[in-house]
Amino acid sequence: MKDLFLRALRCETVPRPPVWLMRQAGRYMPQYRALREKHTLWEMFHRPELALAVTKQPIEHLGIDAAILFSDILVIAEALGLSVRFPDQGGPRVEPPIHTAEQVEALPLMDVEECLSYVFETIRIVKADIDIPLIGFCGAPFTLASYFIDSSNHSSFERAKKWMQEDPKSFHMLLYKITQATIFYLKGQIEAGVDALQIFDSWASVLDEAQFTEFSVPYLQQILSAIEPTGVPVIVFCRGSSLRFDALSKIKPSGISFDWHLSMKELRQKVPQGIAIQGNFNPEFLKLSKGEIETQVKELLSSMQDEKGFIAGLGHGVLPDTPFENVRHFVDVVKNYK
Ligand code: CP3
Repeated sequence: MKDLFLRALRCETVPRPPVWLMRQAGRYMPQYRALREKHTLWEMFHRPELALAVTKQPIEHLGIDAAILFSDILVIAEALGLSVRFPDQGGPRVEPPIHTAEQVEALPLMDVEECLSYVFETIRIVKADIDIPLIGFCGAPFTLASYFIDSSNHSSFERAKKWMQEDPKSFHMLLYKITQATIFYLKGQIEAGVDALQIFDSWASVLDEAQFTEFSVPYLQQILSAIEPTGVPVIVFCRGSSLRFDALSKIKPSGISFDWHLSMKELRQKVPQGIAIQGNFNPEFLKLSKGEIETQVKELLSSMQDEKGFIAGLGHGVLPDTPFENVRHFVDVVKNYK
């Protein structure tokens, strides 16, 4: 049963769907909050023994089928000569913000192996310690670029969109540089031992279809092509992925992580066999009663009974104010489903 997640991701027949959750280690978890009281987030990402402890928390306390490395999509900024802070309030900040073509031109591609050695060290010690698959990850180039351009008010992305329209050439250069660093970064994660990868395109939902096609898809494609020879499976997560199942299927990731706008059954029919699908409850769902959670999970699992390539989870990350007991119940219901 230890390889359920990887088998489902390869679309093999499995006795039950595997389950894991985005943000499965986080503030909803009492054990996480206890550690977080003693350390800054920056320390928790940069000190391998702390990142190891957090990565293991959901294995120990939830019994999930895959672990995800405890890190953040923004640490890669350090490999492009930028700094990233995680203040207690207001979300992460990447500094200095990138506002001009000259700045893009001057962005160095530093030695990823060296700059992000603490991530690779975390992966090595996690792998030596756990017996379920470990998921490594990165941000998608468009999502990272948006944070590099303006992390002070990342809900509007006006500056990124304006730049994209007024000077697409330098915007593409920024995406290209991020993609190059990301490929080194993911290859380093693979060498250190991750079993699968997930690319987070959390801000793809602010793009219209033409913009998504021009500014996100080609870079996702470049990353997938670079990783393909390693044989390590890659899942693509986009906010709003159910609107984009066609474009995402065409770039042939191993799996696509879906939001809750379409049913998994319907998505299974739309996405070609051979590409796994993951999801897709609204994270708010985990605030319902345990009875209601159980009913809805069983409905989903029963609708997917005969389907291959299905991984149970949420359409986005666990919310910090989710009752821990409900998350555990969700995982238990999936694991006990017959
Ligand atoms: O359990 C996991 O999913 C693995 C760890 C993980 C984190 N960030 C830890 C984290 C992962 C996969 C991420 C990815 C990430 N980081 C994304 C893409 C996924 C998504 O949610 O759409 C994005 C956009 C970021 C950027 C980021 N990091 C934001 C916007 C924030 C602040 C928001 C918040 O929840 O406070 C962070 C900080 C962060 N990264 C936390 C965690 C657990 C918050 C922890 C805390 O304050 O203690």
